[in-house]
Amino acid sequence: MKALLLLAAGMLVAAPAWTQNRVIPQAGLKSGFEFLSPDLKKMQLDDFANPGTLWVDRGEKLWRAEAGAAKKSCADCHGDARASMKGVAARYPQVDRHSGDLMTLEARILQSRVERQKAVPFARESEDLLALSAYVAYQSRGMAMEADIEGAARKHFDAGEAMFFRRRGQLNLNCAHCHDANWGRTLYAERISQGQPNAYPAYRLEWQTLGSLERRLRACLSGVRAEILPFGSPEYADLALYLSWRAKGLPIETPGVRR
Ligand code: HEC
Ligand code: HEC
Repeated sequence: MKALLLLAAGMLVAAPAWTQNRVIPQAGLKSGFEFLSPDLKKMQLDDFANPGTLWVDRGEKLWRAEAGAAKKSCADCHGDARASMKGVAARYPQVDRHSGDLMTLEARILQSRVERQKAVPFARESEDLLALSAYVAYQSRGMAMEADIEGAARKHFDAGEAMFFRRRGQLNLNCAHCHDANWGRTLYAERISQGQPNAYPAYRLEWQTLGSLERRLRACLSGVRAEILPFGSPEYADLALYLSWRAKGLPIETPGVRR
């Protein structure tokens, strides 16, 4: 708490460029990976040591498993994920051209599950949904994030951007206070990164399990004692779109490993 207050106090004095919108560290983009200890970097890079591999493997089994009243597997419609899902995660969140809703990758998988497989939806943060989203995102590992923010996506981007810069919680901090103005500094023994979304779903040691980007965002929100919205809230999708745009060019790392 003390560290956080000091951080907040320091921010009142300085009023640099990050108080304005659209000041983005484009040139110095850094994945959270670069802020990890050497041990955790090694763990992420070695598929045998990376605990996230378990979810990717589970996702591959689910991909081939028949489900729901339609008695179809993901593979029945989409074929080999290594080809059909390659690059997909890199362009999410994406607007659904039928409904106009902004969909995260998880939402898109749930849509196929319910509308195409005619199956009961997976719960948010369930092992099965995490496994499938890790498996799908894994097909884009190493590819650059490239979310589209034009056209129908624009209003979602604007809402996400406004969220990023909105002060909140008892400490009245916004995302930029930590992730634009103070990355590289230490807070509670953690090095603050730029808050990039390219590792998710990621295995977090503190969770002892894999978790979605939304779960990480909720941790940040509760860190500043701000309101937490239910999983799957459209506000989180808007924020995720802004983060994807801000991360444009960073490689997808799924399954990432984080502290
Ligand atoms: C009080 C400081 C603070 C605030 C405010 C804050 N975060 Fe964070 N955030 C952290 C810390 C600490 C971590 C864990 C270490 C790291 O990766 O930065 C983190 C991690 C993250 C990560 C994961 C990065 C990775 O590579 O795993 C994302 C994404 C993120 N934050 C986004 C946000 C967003 C969006 C907001 C605003 C809603 C926000 N944060 C507000 C401190 C903060
Ligand atoms: C009966 C056929 C069918 C099944 C079974 C099915 N899908 Fe789909 N899926 C589709 C169709 C059709 C679309 C395109 C929807 C659209 O664009 O409106 C789609 C879209 C997607 C997308 C978005 C692709 C992109 O390029 O944006 C993902 C991801 C996806 N499905 C994952 C899955 C997963 C995971 C499963 C298994 C749990 C699954 N689907 C099962 C038919 C299916």
